[in-house]
Amino acid sequence: MLVLGGGSEIALATVQRMVADRCRTVVLAARKPEDLAHDAERLRSAGATTVDLVGFDSRDLTAHEKLIDEIFDRHGDIDLVLFAFGVLGDQQAFDKDPASAAEAAVTNFAGAISTGLQVAERFRRQGHGTLVFLSSVAGERVRKTNFVYGSTKAGLDGFAQGLGDALSGSGARVMIVRPGFVRSKMTEGLDEAPFATTPEQVASAITTGLARGSEIVWVPPVLRWVFVVFHHLPRPLWRLVSAR
Ligand SMILES: NC(=O)c1ccc[n+]([C@@H]2O[C@H](COP(=O)([O-])OP(=O)(O)OC[C@H]3O[C@@H](n4cnc5c(N)ncnc54)[C@H](OP(=O)(O)O)[C@@H]3O)[C@@H](O)[C@H]2O)c1
Repeated sequence: MLVLGGGSEIALATVQRMVADRCRTVVLAARKPEDLAHDAERLRSAGATTVDLVGFDSRDLTAHEKLIDEIFDRHGDIDLVLFAFGVLGDQQAFDKDPASAAEAAVTNFAGAISTGLQVAERFRRQGHGTLVFLSSVAGERVRKTNFVYGSTKAGLDGFAQGLGDALSGSGARVMIVRPGFVRSKMTEGLDEAPFATTPEQVASAITTGLARGSEIVWVPPVLRWVFVVFHHLPRPLWRLVSAR
């Protein structure tokens, strides 16, 4: 499997499970791959025969086609690509520095497009493979308190849905994961939202979703129904509900 954003806590918990489930080749692509040496060792001890650490920056859009091709050429067939990179940012900081907000959109959204399309092309040629995108409930109904992040996830989610439809019949497929609040380094120091989970719980939901052939996975599952309600709230009421 290949992980883009290989240092993500959710991703590493997922890889740990996949290796326990007999995945033998892992490629972790990250901004600072050297920081993942310890994680690589842990995965080897758990049974992985190859753990490759590769440099990857989701903002480096023009480099993605070549990078993805090199990884696929080096490792042959890849069954699974997990798109785990992302930044949360801070809405007030974004308000003061619009360029940094646009940069977060490049990281979370544009980077997923340039990598996602190239992975899809390789999966089409292979005739199989699953793209797993870490979306978020934040994109399901965007909140005023983090609308830059939420809008990047809404964009990512829409892209992943469309890509999944476009791949239908090719042998390749897309699974979208929509976690709520996850206790990871991304949310360190923030007040917990209701139905908070852990990276391990998200990892478990991902492996279960893969085994079932799910297209969309909510973590925890109850958030699916919470957001059915949220979707239908009139906007003035949503402004109140989403104020935290
Ligand atoms: N935590 C939550 O509550 C939550 C909820 C829903 C969805 N998600 C999504 O789940 C995914 C994983 O998040 P996480 O909770 O595992 O948080 P995390 O541990 O902070 O992982 C995010 C990863 O993204 C990487 N990244 C950031 N900018 C990048 C860039 N320009 N190029 C390449 N990699 C970059 C980070 O790398 P560095 O180590 O180099 O910073 C980090 O490894 C994210 O897409 C996030 O939006 C998280």
